[in-house]
Amino acid sequence: MKKTNLSKKTFYITTPIYYVNDVPHIGHAYTTIAADVIARYKRLSGYDVLFSTGTDEHGQKIVRSAEKANLTPQELADQVVIKFKDLWPLLNIRYDDFIRTTEVRHIEVVKGLLNKLYDKDDIYKGEYEGWYCVPCETFWTETQLTDKTCPNCGRKIEKIKEESYFFKMSKYQDQLLSYIEKNPQCIQPEARKNEIISFVKSGLKDQSITRTKKSLQWGIDLPFDNNHVVYVWYDALINYLTVAGYRINEEIFKKYWPADIHLVGKDILRFHTVIWFTMLMAAGIESPRMVFAHGWWTIEGEKMSKSKGNVVDPYEMVDEFGADVFRYFLMREVSFGQDGNFSKKLLVQRINYDLANDLGNLVSRTIAMINQFFNKKVPQPAEQKEKTDVDLKDLALNTIKEYNIHMNNLSLSRALETIWQFIRRTNKYIDQTEPWILGREKTQQERLSTILYNLAESLRLTTILIYPFMPVKAKEIWRQLGLESDLDKIKLEEEAHWGHLKPGTLVKPGRVIFPRVDIKRKVNKKIKENNNSL
Ligand code: ME8
Ligand code: MG
Repeated sequence: MKKTNLSKKTFYITTPIYYVNDVPHIGHAYTTIAADVIARYKRLSGYDVLFSTGTDEHGQKIVRSAEKANLTPQELADQVVIKFKDLWPLLNIRYDDFIRTTEVRHIEVVKGLLNKLYDKDDIYKGEYEGWYCVPCETFWTETQLTDKTCPNCGRKIEKIKEESYFFKMSKYQDQLLSYIEKNPQCIQPEARKNEIISFVKSGLKDQSITRTKKSLQWGIDLPFDNNHVVYVWYDALINYLTVAGYRINEEIFKKYWPADIHLVGKDILRFHTVIWFTMLMAAGIESPRMVFAHGWWTIEGEKMSKSKGNVVDPYEMVDEFGADVFRYFLMREVSFGQDGNFSKKLLVQRINYDLANDLGNLVSRTIAMINQFFNKKVPQPAEQKEKTDVDLKDLALNTIKEYNIHMNNLSLSRALETIWQFIRRTNKYIDQTEPWILGREKTQQERLSTILYNLAESLRLTTILIYPFMPVKAKEIWRQLGLESDLDKIKLEEEAHWGHLKPGTLVKPGRVIFPRVDIKRKVNKKIKENNNSL
């Protein structure tokens, strides 16, 4: 089945659906922010975007957390889902759909798909004897283990021996390998794709896809055997089809499927390629165009964990620093795909250097000088241009070109780097042309007009480019530039040209967009607050 391009190009991007056993942390925020950045960029590029996120609510892990909290699994899910749903808008995330796996629409799709595979004889009843990691919700065979700990997370695994239904995954091994070979983009980054390929080559086993109700009730009923529930991963992956309208709305499904990007952490790439692709192959559904696995965040050099007490709470980050600067840090600090290390010191450095110094100064100097020398009116540039002007304009256009290349390659930090080279060059242009000196001389009005126009125009273009990363800050700068169009609706194709800014536009000087952060004062303040609460 081919995606039908009705009128617009479409783009479907997903985040993993997060387990509701725990509240959101920096890792969940990272994936969802990155997906939001890409979704915003694609909308800006004229795509009709479907961006989905949600929660994964079934399985043993949720049952155990619920027991600890003295709640039913449904109660736990209902409480925790609010923490996710409330967080995303605070982080300026604009998704199109939020799916919970306990929703009826999803349960129906899972049952429908499993029936299809059962009718095809791709599912059979057998007995599972092996190991299971509850925190990872993963089956492990004896041969995959070196001791009685999970090869993935290192925690204790449990022995399972029970009746189970299996999906004939082994049958699809060759088809999967040739698919990956023919679609080299479908698993990214490259190094991770190679890991998956060697895993598949080492031999696929049939996949256990159910648990008996004796051992687990919290799951979707297997439609053809009421004594079993569906294995949580087999249920969860299908969310991507549910959101796209599979078996619900044929037209929507044709429009958005296959998904363009499943964004995931490297921890769950195998599920999203091996299990997911073979399941889709069996169902005769096209595989996603790309599964991209990003890297892992450590905190101040250490693995993040509740027992260490070093879990970074995104709510606190928004509170302390603001959403957009936190987004900027996460996207800028590590190249997308690599592991990263979070530290407050590094965050504050990025805020003070990149944002307050570089971009913040460009904004305040540009707006202040247009205010001072031209009574807020963006001046008309002169026909006569100097080399520095032409260079600036050329760099602006080149920046847009490179930015597009990096964004389309998901090189998000490189895209930012490219923008910041331009911002620094624009600041240098101010230092070179010294408009504050020209401003004192009546004979230099024309030159001054050209310089300030160029600055405002450079800033306008910069603002469009940073919008996917810092949507709210971009809107504030946009407003100070006196621009009235809605950044959520503009299109690169129409706006990203030099000279688009209308002379005569009235700038609106406003508050400092990126205040400097004094980390020492922050730390002291925290200590004081703690003392007060003693
Ligand atoms: O795995 N660094 O949900 P989950 C970077 N329900 N990203 C991190 C991270 C870290 N330290 N910690 C978590 C599940 N993540 C399943 C998914 S999808 C059909 C089902 C992010 O709550 C990263 O995206 O354990 C990772 O893949 C995801 O959270 C795991 O979230
Ligand atoms: Mg996890």
